[in-house]
Amino acid sequence: MVWFLVFLVWWCGASAIPSPAAGGSYIWKCPKILQQPVVECTCDMPHTLRCIGDRSSMPIISRTLRSPNSPSVSLLDCTVQNVSIITGPLLEGVSLHGLVISSGEIREVSQAAFKGLGSPLQALGLPNNKLTSVPIIALRFLPELDRLDLSSNKLKNLDINSFKGLKNLSFIDVSNNIISRIAPYTFTKLQNLKMLRLRGNKLKLSVIMKLNPMSYIEEIDLSENLLVGPLEPKTFPRMDSLRDLQLSHNLISSIKLGALEGLTNLTALSLHHNQIDVIEDHAFIHLAMLLVLDLSHNRIVAVSGASLAHLNKLTDLNLSNNYLRALTADLISPLKSLNILKLNDNDISIIASDALRNITIIKQLSLSDNPLNCDCSLQDFSNWLNNSPLSKKDKESAVCATPPSLENGLLIEIASENLICGEDEQENEAPPMMSALKNKISLKEFKYDGDTVVLIWKIEEEGIPYSCDAIYVYEEQFLSEVLVESTPLKCNSSSLERPYVS
Ligand SMILES: *[C@@H]1O[C@H](CO)[C@@H](O)[C@H](O)[C@H]1NC(C)=O
Ligand SMILES: *[C@@H]1O[C@H](CO)[C@@H](O)[C@H](O)[C@H]1NC(C)=O
Ligand SMILES: *[C@@H]1O[C@H](CO)[C@@H](O)[C@H](O)[C@H]1NC(C)=O
Ligand SMILES: *[C@@H]1O[C@H](CO)[C@@H](O)[C@H](O)[C@H]1NC(C)=O
Ligand SMILES: *[C@@H]1O[C@H](CO)[C@@H](O)[C@H](O)[C@H]1NC(C)=O
Ligand SMILES: *[C@@H]1O[C@H](CO)[C@@H](O)[C@H](O)[C@H]1NC(C)=O
Repeated sequence: MVWFLVFLVWWCGASAIPSPAAGGSYIWKCPKILQQPVVECTCDMPHTLRCIGDRSSMPIISRTLRSPNSPSVSLLDCTVQNVSIITGPLLEGVSLHGLVISSGEIREVSQAAFKGLGSPLQALGLPNNKLTSVPIIALRFLPELDRLDLSSNKLKNLDINSFKGLKNLSFIDVSNNIISRIAPYTFTKLQNLKMLRLRGNKLKLSVIMKLNPMSYIEEIDLSENLLVGPLEPKTFPRMDSLRDLQLSHNLISSIKLGALEGLTNLTALSLHHNQIDVIEDHAFIHLAMLLVLDLSHNRIVAVSGASLAHLNKLTDLNLSNNYLRALTADLISPLKSLNILKLNDNDISIIASDALRNITIIKQLSLSDNPLNCDCSLQDFSNWLNNSPLSKKDKESAVCATPPSLENGLLIEIASENLICGEDEQENEAPPMMSALKNKISLKEFKYDGDTVVLIWKIEEEGIPYSCDAIYVYEEQFLSEVLVESTPLKCNSSSLERPYVS
């Protein structure tokens, strides 16, 4: 269970645990609890007791741990079968730092479940159960709780009372529930809250936007939710201490000018597996502290010169699995601190001769699965690559797709004099995507009245069915094409009366 790793790391810092070094001859022994088929406990590390049992196992565990001779246990992790209600008091008089109870079935926690524990509990986990709301009344007995894990339950909403009185909470994990609503003030009074895991719920951007500012929080995971639409300046409330924001596996569509203006101290932003096609100029003007940016698995066709401006500190950029077509100096030049650049699985055929000229501290660059056109325009890049400090693997990631004579050749193995222009003119006439469509679609009419462009396409029968997604407008700038506009457009040949000409 992932939760435990976190738990145990935190554990190392706890000073209350007697250690052999501090205690001289003290050697910790695992308490013996074995009463088959009712309960069986083991210790895989000191002070950590893991038990598997049925509904009558808790009183046995409790009795053993309460006895004066029992070795001290810090973390008790119980898997109890056939239990849908935790009744209490469960562990009266037992001193623990952390308690985890999973049954797969727990729907309810009785009000007195955690009453009378021998010492204040600091971590509670009830993951993998069927709770539909935070058992707030039961939690009243745990005012010093630091970590709460309610992941993989059936929580629907969080509201202002969900964590009432739990002022010491620094970590909340409610991942993998079905949360769709969070009241704006839910976390406002949790002044120690540092980490909030909301992954795998049903949250929309409109809910996030309305949350109150949180000045203390450092890390939020909102991956795998229903975040749909652009990232705008006010999409997130102000969070001055936020360092790490995870938004992967959502449906975010673009990054607007001045996005996330309230997150000025953000150092890591993860946006992989979204549907981002456009990053507006100066999108990151408020995010100048970013070190790590993951934009992989999106629909980015081009990054304009100013899109990545202000990211002077960025060390790690992942743009793999997009639709980039060229690598230009434009993209790279704002990134003065870049160490790692991932560009694998794009449509890059062109690398401008000056693209990497100013990049001095790059350590990793991956270009695999791009259709490089290995002509004379790649000579400078080829030289750069040969003399770069990149690993052999990275150097070998640049593979030619064209011209046919160099197909599948490693760029670093091709002598400069073999990177030539002018022999395969016809190869370069149409981009690869268009040549695949050559016999299916053709431009029938073109009109421009100084203001509007009208394009009429003829589509042959073998081109049907088709659908369209968006109109991209590019501007040709020397070697590269720069995306200047993207407009969503929905069409589907199945729903058109005359699908042939559209
Ligand atoms: C307990 O649950 C298991 C499956 O989890 C089931 O096979 C068993 O019959 C249940 N026992 C009782 C007493 O309900
Ligand atoms: C809980 O918070 C209070 C005040 O907010 C503080 O005095 C106390 O030390 C904290 N307890 C723990 C275990 O951190
Ligand atoms: C956030 O950044 C500002 C400067 O931009 C700084 O003054 C402030 O201390 C930072 N806040 C935190 C909590 O790190
Ligand atoms: C993107 O690249 C970084 C390393 O630069 C890596 O840590 C991260 O996992 C990658 N993202 C995905 C989705 O693979
Ligand atoms: C490289 O850096 C120099 C000096 O900072 C600058 O004048 C030049 O425009 C840069 N070239 C590119 C391609 O970014
Ligand atoms: C187009 O419409 C048909 C029928 O309505 C549907 O089955 C198909 O998935 C649609 N295609 C796209 C790409 O949306």
